[in-house]
Amino acid sequence: MKEVAIITGASGGIGYEIALLFAQQKIDILMVARNKQKLEQIKISVENKYGINVYTVATDLSVRDGFVDINNCVNTNKLTVTYLVNNAGFGDYGFFTERSMEKYSEMLGLNIISLTELTYFYAKQMIKNGKGRILNVASTAGIQPDPYFAVYGASKAYVISLTEAIHKEFEKTGVTATVLSPGATKTEFVERADMNNAKLYDQGVMTAKEVARVGFNGMMKGKLHVIPGLKNKILAFFSSITPSSKIRLDIAANVMATKQLT
Ligand SMILES: NC(=O)c1ccc[n+]([C@@H]2O[C@H](COP(=O)([O-])OP(=O)(O)OC[C@H]3O[C@@H](n4cnc5c(N)ncnc54)[C@H](OP(=O)(O)O)[C@@H]3O)[C@@H](O)[C@H]2O)c1
Repeated sequence: MKEVAIITGASGGIGYEIALLFAQQKIDILMVARNKQKLEQIKISVENKYGINVYTVATDLSVRDGFVDINNCVNTNKLTVTYLVNNAGFGDYGFFTERSMEKYSEMLGLNIISLTELTYFYAKQMIKNGKGRILNVASTAGIQPDPYFAVYGASKAYVISLTEAIHKEFEKTGVTATVLSPGATKTEFVERADMNNAKLYDQGVMTAKEVARVGFNGMMKGKLHVIPGLKNKILAFFSSITPSSKIRLDIAANVMATKQLT
């Protein structure tokens, strides 16, 4: 059986950079995203450059078939999943009732259901093998409720809570679960979340490469929490120690405000 790292959302942004870090370590990768053409291009260039095997699964993880497609690829190629990076995710910015419920369902399917299903299934196999590393990508938006980013923030709070709990449960199994909580990062996420008018992305934005490096290292060390960047660490710290939920919400609403509101 060949060891492999599954990375969801590996065709761009943070996931792509994490995939390259595995490749640099000569670890075979299984990349998942919807855009088949992009995945095929990356496969050719990464295999040529790093001499590893790259498997691709073009599928939509917001629906259950996504998981089935990944598992078919793992079984067909007789792979052993030693690393799992649940990175694929998206947000949707705006007043709660003015955004689309359909989009919220898609987001919850991707950010929560798919992540849980992949974690459940492959953690079980890793525990059986006595070895494995899981990296779940959350967000600083998951540390407190986020006015104007309510569903996304809640979905990432779920990711943080789930990962904390299983990190503890897995203590003596040889398997670790790490949660990466990036702040504003320069990727296509902003466009997809319709956040071009959010002031959050005006300054202190990190690159996907920087975030990936910190997350990858944290996962390899088996850490529980990884927050890249000093600004994000400070924000996360104050958010977790602010006793008043009213003050926390006022600060979060200000952080999430549009440029016009300030
Ligand atoms: N960028 C930020 O400011 C930021 C901050 C905090 C946390 N994060 C989190 O970081 C993670 C990565 O985001 P990113 O910034 O790198 O975003 P990105 O540049 O938009 O990349 C998202 C990746 O996920 C894939 N993807 C999206 N929807 C999918 C679906 N339904 N099924 C399968 N694959 C899907 C995309 O490829 P296809 O479109 O081809 O499917 C792409 O490879 C996300 O979980 C996000 O919530 C991002």
